[in-house]
Amino acid sequence: MPYASGMLVLGIETSCDETAASVVERTAGALRVRSNVVASQEALHAPYGGVVPELASRAHLARIVPTLERALKDARVRWSDLDRIGVARCPGLIGSLLVGVSAAKGVAWSLGKPVVPVDHVVAHLAACLLDRPMPAWPALGLVASGGHTSVFRLDGPTEPHLIGWTIDDAIGEAFDKAAALLGLGYPGGPRVEREAVGGDPHAVRLPSAFLRREGVQFSFSGVKTALLYAARGVPGTARRPAPAAPPLTPDRVRDLAASFQHAAVASIIEGLDAALAQSGERPRTLLVGGGVSANKALRCALDGWAQAHGIECRVPSMAHCIDNAAMIAGLAALMPEADGIGDLGFVAEPMSRIARGVRGPTRRAS
Ligand code: KG4
Ligand code: ZN
Repeated sequence: MPYASGMLVLGIETSCDETAASVVERTAGALRVRSNVVASQEALHAPYGGVVPELASRAHLARIVPTLERALKDARVRWSDLDRIGVARCPGLIGSLLVGVSAAKGVAWSLGKPVVPVDHVVAHLAACLLDRPMPAWPALGLVASGGHTSVFRLDGPTEPHLIGWTIDDAIGEAFDKAAALLGLGYPGGPRVEREAVGGDPHAVRLPSAFLRREGVQFSFSGVKTALLYAARGVPGTARRPAPAAPPLTPDRVRDLAASFQHAAVASIIEGLDAALAQSGERPRTLLVGGGVSANKALRCALDGWAQAHGIECRVPSMAHCIDNAAMIAGLAALMPEADGIGDLGFVAEPMSRIARGVRGPTRRAS
């Protein structure tokens, strides 16, 4: 695929609780990250045990301009040097997305440069392309995030075809709920991972989240319920009280965290086996993205799986696993050229146009 040289793209990401901006340079055959600024709202939401949408959008409003300015300063570029603006237009919290989309339109309008709206879920896979040579295609793509567990087949970076999804919780959401019920607090995924290090992954046998149906489908609700019963006991009846669960000691918490992580990772591997079995031309690369791709047990299992099948495994650098704007700028840089400043009539949308989310059916790109 031919790449023009030296195109500077500003990426803007505000879909959930990170206000992020980045400048990426598209050179011949590569995407170079010139700056990557993330203003996290973790501390703001921690007391509530999850993201509070209204607080998130207000915080984005307060942080967006300084975050954009910082991204340009770090990249040592001026506003007038920018060639293109990329922005996450979906999926996410609508009030949060609106801040980024409005900022992107404002910058594009004032500079007279094109704005390219992108899908945040697909952008997670573009994180694997940053600061590295382009991979071989076709590829399998796995997005394991707080809102999605999606498997794609890709013939190129901007052409994903959805082949797998979860019918209920996303894997990251399941990690967050596992953390909550084990009393580990928010944000859950990294805390479960930390506890799991000292635990026995085989202490408790939890069911797989991979559904043995046609296609590649996951359901994390059964694993969650099994973990709840293991932690708090199985519900009994008045006539037949159930035996109490073992006390939730620090050792038991570590074992349960390790068992949950083991079940979640094994489910993904089962899903990839099914995806490989049903894909036509053999994929040459596995692209992985989303917050859960920061999980070392998952990274290790994916690496082993890919090696066993002779496929190159690409996981993002740690900085590009969580929500960031470099992945948005990277994907926008690879999209076809927009005419003039592009169509400023596009709107923010809560659902992905490509991936199947937890809150409703897939909407097809128009
Ligand atoms: O991609 P992301 O930053 O936001 C969404 O697009 O959803 O993913 C956030 C999710 C959260 O559910 C978080 O708990 C999970 O990624 N996560 C992890 C780890 N780091 C973040 N899950 C497991 N292990 C981790 N180390
Ligand atoms: Zn994300």
